[in-house]
Amino acid sequence: MRVLVAGDRGYIGTVLVPMLLSAGHDVTGLDAGWYDGCDFGPQPTGYESRTGDIRDQQPADLAGFDAVINLAAISNDPVGHLNADATYSVNAHGAAHLARVAREAGVARYVFSSSCSLYGAAGDEAVTEDSDFNPVTPYGESKVLAEQLISKLSDSRFSPTYLRNATAYGSSPRLRADIVVNNLTGVALTRGEVRLQSDGSPWRPLVHIEDISRACLAVLAADRDVIHDQAFNVGRDEDVVQIRDIAEAVSARTGAPVTYEAGASADKRDYRVDFSKIGRLLPEFRPTWTVAAGIEELAGDMRRHGLTAEQFEHTYVRLEQVNRLKATGRLDEMLRRVPDVAVAAR
Ligand SMILES: NC(=O)c1ccc[n+]([C@@H]2O[C@H](COP(=O)([O-])OP(=O)(O)OC[C@H]3O[C@@H](n4cnc5c(N)ncnc54)[C@H](O)[C@@H]3O)[C@@H](O)[C@H]2O)c1
Repeated sequence: MRVLVAGDRGYIGTVLVPMLLSAGHDVTGLDAGWYDGCDFGPQPTGYESRTGDIRDQQPADLAGFDAVINLAAISNDPVGHLNADATYSVNAHGAAHLARVAREAGVARYVFSSSCSLYGAAGDEAVTEDSDFNPVTPYGESKVLAEQLISKLSDSRFSPTYLRNATAYGSSPRLRADIVVNNLTGVALTRGEVRLQSDGSPWRPLVHIEDISRACLAVLAADRDVIHDQAFNVGRDEDVVQIRDIAEAVSARTGAPVTYEAGASADKRDYRVDFSKIGRLLPEFRPTWTVAAGIEELAGDMRRHGLTAEQFEHTYVRLEQVNRLKATGRLDEMLRRVPDVAVAAR
């Protein structure tokens, strides 16, 4: 298939693209380039990556594609809190705009990278795709709104699918330090302690970024009836764990002791997720990673790259990089790229 991957130069995109290419798909990327240069090893090659904003795409830009996979987003709560309007503008209205122009261009499938955080504070029951939304942040709210707006566009020739990913982990050429497994592993290796910012009690569903990519591949390959306007929780039941279990697994593999930050308390994001639907309806989706294997992979790559605390705590933290781009005039308040000539003229 000819596939446009929006957000191809981010954490998940740089792992997904080589997997799509290996599966024989013809891939084009589209990315605003916020994390260009925040590299953790060599970047994927062998495909065209366009620089642009999903909010500015026109039907002509999408002509000839069979599918769009949209990963482009403000990808966590801290960046989402900077300016809630910008978060809704990219994550909800931008995602819906991209879906609209894709539909106008005759693209048949649109895979939207959603998040389990739309379930938010969900109580003790494991949430299914039919559970209520209870988002607790602008990021979570933006994913709810995106799904609702995109769903209205589904018709006999346009099939959107919403992949509600668990919290991701794993090594990537555009590593992120601000997600729990990666964070605890990197801090253990660079600071010598597994430092918890909460009391470790919250439950977190986890999924490796290669397994998220496998879910995208499975949606592209599935019969239309199975994926048309459908949401799937993406993860595996074995990897719904408490943060303190992750900390202990990191400690066991790095030898660093588990410590609790002063005043650490329970955190609001605490939910368990039921992953049976994707296994039932998309049997070709077979997740292969465990959290323990992911920690080994991360620790191995971090040692090989000689990761320093300075790099880990600055280069690979999404909020830090977005604030750097804003402070140097390269991103405006709505998180639009300011052209280089305009930056130079200041
Ligand atoms: N990593 C996770 O734990 C996780 C979990 C659930 C869902 N998701 C979702 O998966 C997607 C990808 O996440 P990630 O971890 O790779 O994030 P990321 O921040 O590493 O990558 C996002 C990419 O999108 C690009 N981008 C942002 N706004 C854009 C715009 N307006 N136009 C074009 N490009 C733009 C950025 O430059 C970046 O390369 C996001 O939608 C995120 O919400 C991620």
